[in-house]
Amino acid sequence: MINIAVLGYGTVGSGVVEVIEKNKELVGKKAGEELAVKYILDLRDFPGDPHEDKLVHDFGQILADDEVRIVCETMGGVGAAYEFTKQSLAAGKSVCTSNKELVAAHGPELLALAKERGCNYLFEASVGGGIPIIRPLNSCLTAERIESITGILNGTTNYILSKMEFEGADYENVLKAAQEKGYAERNPEADVEGHDACRKIAILSSLMTGRNVDYQKIYTEGITKVEPRDFEYAKKLGMSIKLLAISREKDGGTLAMVSPFLIDGDHPLHMVNGVFNAVLVHGNMLGDAMFYGRGAGKLPTASAVVSDVIDCARHMGREIMCFWSAKEADLVSIDRMERKFFFRVRTDCEEKAKALFGDGLEKVALAEVAEECGFVTPVMTEKDFADRYAKLGDGAVGSRLRMEA
Ligand code: HSE
Repeated sequence: MINIAVLGYGTVGSGVVEVIEKNKELVGKKAGEELAVKYILDLRDFPGDPHEDKLVHDFGQILADDEVRIVCETMGGVGAAYEFTKQSLAAGKSVCTSNKELVAAHGPELLALAKERGCNYLFEASVGGGIPIIRPLNSCLTAERIESITGILNGTTNYILSKMEFEGADYENVLKAAQEKGYAERNPEADVEGHDACRKIAILSSLMTGRNVDYQKIYTEGITKVEPRDFEYAKKLGMSIKLLAISREKDGGTLAMVSPFLIDGDHPLHMVNGVFNAVLVHGNMLGDAMFYGRGAGKLPTASAVVSDVIDCARHMGREIMCFWSAKEADLVSIDRMERKFFFRVRTDCEEKAKALFGDGLEKVALAEVAEECGFVTPVMTEKDFADRYAKLGDGAVGSRLRMEA
């Protein structure tokens, strides 16, 4: 029997206990030994909870117990979670986590510590919730040079954007519903401002390059400036608006960014709606492969944590290879990125826009809207676009959108 401790009895932590209980027999079979939750660490009490007897408030008790071989860190944050993870790994206990903040901030250090102590630090649930993407990158696509990863990596924002697109729903109410369903972070800013997706693409970029991509250096824009009217233009263009997290090889370096994008009706990510996430990986031999599934929520995320627990159980005393060194990746400025852009102007500024952007502009007008119109630019660099767009001054309406081919 392998004993486990769960740190944090919130949405994901309680899900981990539930998955291990509900799928006990098959989980044990796949792990090669029965898995038993011996401790649950939380500051709170849970009177009447069926697992009340396993609750402890002192991490020291877990650390001192040699019977605990695997720790599930489902606390979140980079404070106590960081300390407890380091102490667990230093004691030779493998750690499985859903904590993308911690993985993005200290991944290489924790991986190195695990390697040194002959245990594992696994984080399948940190990106894409229940979607297998970390393990495929580490174990299945190892013959590939991964040239790009494009993902819808945040369930909350995808849920909000889908509700706005298909139901014309109000932003605040949709956000509240996402929080109630357990998709959103405690601080919704992390979701809607793109920080959550940023940390996730930093993790994927690090695995793609094998070098550390610092999430703090990734250009990040959230969805708060996307307006209901943008969806009317998107519809007219046969497109959709998605918060994309992108990482790609560019000029010998790595370009990474998070931003809302207009994407074409035939783009593989176009059909990814609601809380679903998807990760489109392009390898130099494979071409495209897409991973799709539930990117948030209690049981899908918990299932990914338990899959890591099983992997640890099967590889006791052996390192599961992870190609992520502490060496910093070379990040390329997004200024050099080329693409089309969409922007809106007041009708009386239409000529000014044409003069600023030249002949290649394609006008998009909404039949029922007289006071403004939209334009699609030809392919141009971010810098070139930004310089010209700034000259529109208050003639610009709403916010511009990038377009993904
Ligand atoms: N808040 C995150 C999301 C949870 O909405 O995707 C999963 O990481």
